[in-house]
Amino acid sequence: MVINVVYEIRHGLDPLGDAYTRILSPQERRPLGQTFTPPEIIESMVSWASDQGEPVRIVDPGAGSGRYLLAAARAFPSAALIGADIDPLSTLMLRANIAAAGLSERASVVLGDYRSLDLPDIDGRTLYIGNPPYVRHHQISPDWKAWLISTARNRGLKASGLAGLHVHFFLATAEHSRPGDYGAFITSAEWLDVNYGSLVRDLLLDGLGGESLHVLDPKASPFADATTTGAITCFKIGEKPEAIAVRRVGAVGDLGRLGLGHPVSRQRLAEANRWSVLTRVTPKLPEGYTELGEICRVHRGAVTGANKIWVHRDGDVDLPESVLFTSVTKARELFGAGDRLAAASGLKCVIDLPVDLDVFDAAERKLVDRFLRLAKKLKVQEGYVAANRKAWWSVGLRDAAPVLATYMARRPPAFVRNDIEARHINIAHGLYPRQDLDTSTLDNLASYLRSAVTLGQGRTYAGGLTKFEPKEMERLPIPSLESLRGGDFVGSGSAAAMD
Ligand SMILES: C[S@@+](CC[C@H](N)C(=O)[O-])C[C@H]1O[C@@H](n2cnc3c(N)ncnc32)[C@H](O)[C@@H]1O
Repeated sequence: MVINVVYEIRHGLDPLGDAYTRILSPQERRPLGQTFTPPEIIESMVSWASDQGEPVRIVDPGAGSGRYLLAAARAFPSAALIGADIDPLSTLMLRANIAAAGLSERASVVLGDYRSLDLPDIDGRTLYIGNPPYVRHHQISPDWKAWLISTARNRGLKASGLAGLHVHFFLATAEHSRPGDYGAFITSAEWLDVNYGSLVRDLLLDGLGGESLHVLDPKASPFADATTTGAITCFKIGEKPEAIAVRRVGAVGDLGRLGLGHPVSRQRLAEANRWSVLTRVTPKLPEGYTELGEICRVHRGAVTGANKIWVHRDGDVDLPESVLFTSVTKARELFGAGDRLAAASGLKCVIDLPVDLDVFDAAERKLVDRFLRLAKKLKVQEGYVAANRKAWWSVGLRDAAPVLATYMARRPPAFVRNDIEARHINIAHGLYPRQDLDTSTLDNLASYLRSAVTLGQGRTYAGGLTKFEPKEMERLPIPSLESLRGGDFVGSGSAAAMD
């Protein structure tokens, strides 16, 4: 029996870990987040690590029975091995596995908390690889929450006391590591979207050096006893990535060597407070195409909170010219404009007062005060939107966007060049180039979008209305910037038909 167990361990199996998960129920293992990783996932992550070169040391944070440590030890026969786990029984299994696999000479096991692990300085790179525990914040002590917040603050980052333990492990890794080190973790995908995950997102953009992100669909059941969306994060310490490759993987068998993914630029990642939308399955981009979001930000127009107060026909209201902005206030104005919004006639204006009313001279201020008195009588300042603005009287219109788009209709969006620099309210989106684009490039962009975008690319709601949220619009495929500049993109509709 013992001989059999040793034989299995030497051949890459984990009979002790398997027995442990049979003896202890998932509920009993939950407080320490003890879910052991299936071999296919470990294999993919270790293969990725091999593609990055040879580490001098391997650290497995929350090593459990040592599945990662042993697999990585086989791939890197001269690396020193460190496995840390807070659970004495796990470290016993880990020691037994290390001994049976004949790795005792180069392995050390630390019984303790990964966050306070003391790693000696070495010459050469360390690989951090593993499956940090998933433990909710309710089970994290106030001392460790304070550690998270102050350690993040020292790096100029914000952290939340609501963060799960996997977030603590990412931060601890950033702390333990040195530029040149690298790593791959599988965790729950939660941090991609929740507020407390912003710390991991910030770290990956700066310090932890995110390289790629592979989101495993829940139906792929990455873990036998936990229904969760898993995310594998590959990172290179000290790098400030220009882009992170992201992808969704439907089945564990499709993971491969983790070299694939669709690059999402640093700017877009930094702006997005939810990353999962950026990993959604998009139609495969054909050669020479990119996503609209790589070239433009898409922003919905401001919500006035009370159009009958803030939106007027020209000449309807006696206020200084400087606070009246010709604006698109109805989707039909864009549908009716055709390719270009070339005249202000027919458009209304939006009153957009500055937050600081002292900028007006006495005569202007009189007009403004009279208007505000009237608005107050109508209790405008008590409305939800107005009450939550910096100043209730200041709508805060966005700058004029060179291309305006409708986003909710029973027909594809209108993409209109905004020749008259009209502002827009929340019935339209503005497309704001991330860099200066000349007129003909903008014309080509709008013209491509008009001809290529179909209703099928939006989200259709009951009743048949199709909607494109700003982040969804940013996912639309468009020809590359070079093609748009040269006007040499082929045929309309070719890319848009890819959904
Ligand atoms: C998700 S399991 C992963 C086990 C193993 N690496 C695997 O993938 O099969 C997480 C492990 O972290 C350990 N753990 C929980 N809290 C820890 C902490 N604060 N420091 C170190 N290890 C911890 C648990 O005991 C558990 O073994």
